[in-house]
Amino acid sequence: MIGMMQLINLAHKRYCHHMKIKNVLIIGGGLMGSGIAQVNAIAGYNVTLVDQNKNILDTSKERVLKNISKLALKKYTGDSVKANIFCKEKMEYLTFIESHDQAAKKSDLIIEAIVENIENKQKLFANLDQLAPKQTIFTSNTSSLPIKDIARVTNREENFAGLHFFNPVPIMKLVEIIYLDSTSKETIKTLTDYVKSLDKHSVRCKDTPGFIVNHLLIPYLIQAVQMYERGDASKEDIDSAMKLGAGYPMGPFELLDFIGLDTTKFILDGWHKKFPNNPLFAKSKILEKLVNEKKLGKKSGAGFYEYK
Ligand code: CAA
Ligand code: NAD
Repeated sequence: MIGMMQLINLAHKRYCHHMKIKNVLIIGGGLMGSGIAQVNAIAGYNVTLVDQNKNILDTSKERVLKNISKLALKKYTGDSVKANIFCKEKMEYLTFIESHDQAAKKSDLIIEAIVENIENKQKLFANLDQLAPKQTIFTSNTSSLPIKDIARVTNREENFAGLHFFNPVPIMKLVEIIYLDSTSKETIKTLTDYVKSLDKHSVRCKDTPGFIVNHLLIPYLIQAVQMYERGDASKEDIDSAMKLGAGYPMGPFELLDFIGLDTTKFILDGWHKKFPNNPLFAKSKILEKLVNEKKLGKKSGAGFYEYK
């Protein structure tokens, strides 16, 4: 009898460990959300991508379609018939829609990639918590906000984690899995398997400021801006120096433009508020000026540099 119970328990545990993710709901279809949607569709998940209006969703769809088409042509070395079939097949995994209400109810995994603002994220998750089944795993792609501050508005701290992708998502191999004390082992295991299924590499990190990559990367970027503001060197020379002298694929100003200056400013403002005496997070006049002028980097056509 005891043997039987143990067997049932084991089977149950196995089942939990291999909780199948099929339906993925991604909220926010900007730079990150559209990339995350793309890699999920390629891996064969049913993806719903939600953003605030149709115009934004059209842009997201265009971006994904363009990227998958390019991939397909490469995969089938220019055979456009086969490439078109591949493309059509992958696009069928994607739904672009303005409301998350229906998709949330049948989602296995939710990935939030909206603006880097704690109130907006909390408001969204409080609502999702009402809609999604109890076992749905909630994750945030936040760059800099504490996961526990976002998770706190929900009643599923066992099923809550950070899932931090990198830009450009289709190319960057890393995903950071950020866990809370309350995150269950099953959730971490499911996310680890899921990241692997996207053909990406995961690392785990506690819920500490900036996790691994941004804890090291953002201060470096801010220091570059401070050097430039002091007039120590031109932005072009700082970029050349880091590419040619340190082997970085992009210089710090190119990378800031690539990340988005609004996103960088949200990260910096948040950390400045939290650590007001840390000179690494001092407010930057040039960053404020560019964001005020709507020069948000590559995504808006201009930032530190101009883009066609
Ligand atoms: N979306 C999709 N694919 C892209 C892309 C994009 N935005 N930009 C480039 N690619 C693809 C290209 O199509 C190309 O693919 P193939 O090799 O299959 O042809 C490949 O990337 C290489 O592109 P290029 O040859 O044009 O250019 P490159 O060799 O200079 O590489 C890069 C481009 C991969 C972006 C490289 O410059 C790089 O690694 N830059 C640094 C990126 C980085 O540090 N990202 C992290 C940002 S921080 C972050 O994400 C965290 C946060 O919270 C803020
Ligand atoms: P983005 O500005 O390109 O896109 C954000 C999108 O979210 C916009 O399309 C906006 O319309 C949408 N949005 C805002 N509020 C929404 C809501 N309530 N419901 C639905 N959609 C909403 O920004 P991004 O670069 O994609 O960043 C998104 C998140 O990912 C942020 O938390 C950011 O810190 C993080 N992140 C950014 C990068 C990067 O390099 N840009 C890298 C890793 C993580």
